[in-house]
Amino acid sequence: MAIWNGRVLNLCILWLLVSTVLLNDADCHSWKKKLPKPRKNLVLYFHDIIYNGQNAENATSTIVAAPEGANLTILTGNNHFGNIAVFDDPITLDNNLHSPPVGRPQGFYFYDMKNTFSSWLGFTFVLNSTDYKGTITFNGADPILVKYRDISVVGGTGDLLMARGIAAINTDAYEGDVYFRLRVNITLYECYY
Ligand SMILES: *[C@@H]1O[C@H](CO)[C@@H](O)[C@H](O)[C@H]1NC(C)=O
Ligand SMILES: *[C@@H]1O[C@H](CO)[C@@H](O)[C@H](O)[C@H]1NC(C)=O
Ligand SMILES: *[C@@H]1O[C@H](CO)[C@@H](O)[C@H](O)[C@H]1NC(C)=O
Ligand SMILES: *[C@@H]1O[C@H](CO)[C@@H](O)[C@H](O)[C@H]1NC(C)=O
Repeated sequence: MAIWNGRVLNLCILWLLVSTVLLNDADCHSWKKKLPKPRKNLVLYFHDIIYNGQNAENATSTIVAAPEGANLTILTGNNHFGNIAVFDDPITLDNNLHSPPVGRPQGFYFYDMKNTFSSWLGFTFVLNSTDYKGTITFNGADPILVKYRDISVVGGTGDLLMARGIAAINTDAYEGDVYFRLRVNITLYECYY
C-alpha cells in the first residue's frame, strides 16, 4: 500500500511538471519573443496636393466625401471630421517635390476625430524605379499631431513580396490645406528578397 501511494504521488508530481510545461508553452506569452532583426529599411517621401477648386492641373488628391452641408473643395471644420480624400501622389527619395518620382502612393485617408486632428490611412506604394519594382501596402491610425506615428506594413508584391513591418510616418511639411509632405521610414521585419 505504501509503495502504491508513493507511485501515485510520483505520477502526480510528473503530471504537474508536464502540465506546467505545456501550459507555459500554450499561453499568451509569445510577446516575449525577441523582435527579429530588421531585414530592410527604406525612407521615402510623398507629396499630397489637395484639390482646392483652383489647382486642378497640379492636384494629386481630392476630397470625395464630406459631411452633410460641407463641400468637396474645402476641408470641413471640426478637424476635418468626416472628410475622405483619395490620392495618387508622387513618391520621392528626398524631400523635393520636383525630384524624379520612384513611384506613387495610391489610396485614401479619412479624418476620424472631431476633437483633434486624426486620420486613418490605407494606401499602397506602387514602386517602379531601378531599385524596386513592386508594391507595399500600409494601413493604420494616423494621430497627425504626434511627431512619429507607426502604421502597419501589411504586405507587398514584386521586389517587396511578403513585406511586413512598420512605417514611422512624420509630417515633413504642411502648407495650409493644400499641400503636405510625409516622410515614411519603413522597417521590414519580413520580406522574401
Ligand atoms: C503647378 O505647379 C507649378 C510648378 O510648381 C507651378 O508653377 C504652378 O503655379 C502650379 N499651378 C497651380 C494651379 O497651382
Ligand atoms: C465650396 O465653398 C467655397 C467657399 O464657400 C466656395 O467658394 C465654393 O464655390 C464651394 N464649392 C462648391 C462646389 O459648392
Ligand atoms: C515602370 O517604368 C518603366 C520604365 O520607365 C515603364 O516602361 C513602365 O511602363 C513602368 N511601369 C508601370 C507599371 O508604371
Ligand atoms: C528609421 O527607423 C529605424 C527604426 O526605428 C531607425 O533605426 C532609423 O534610424 C530610422 N532612419 C531614419 C533615416 O530616420
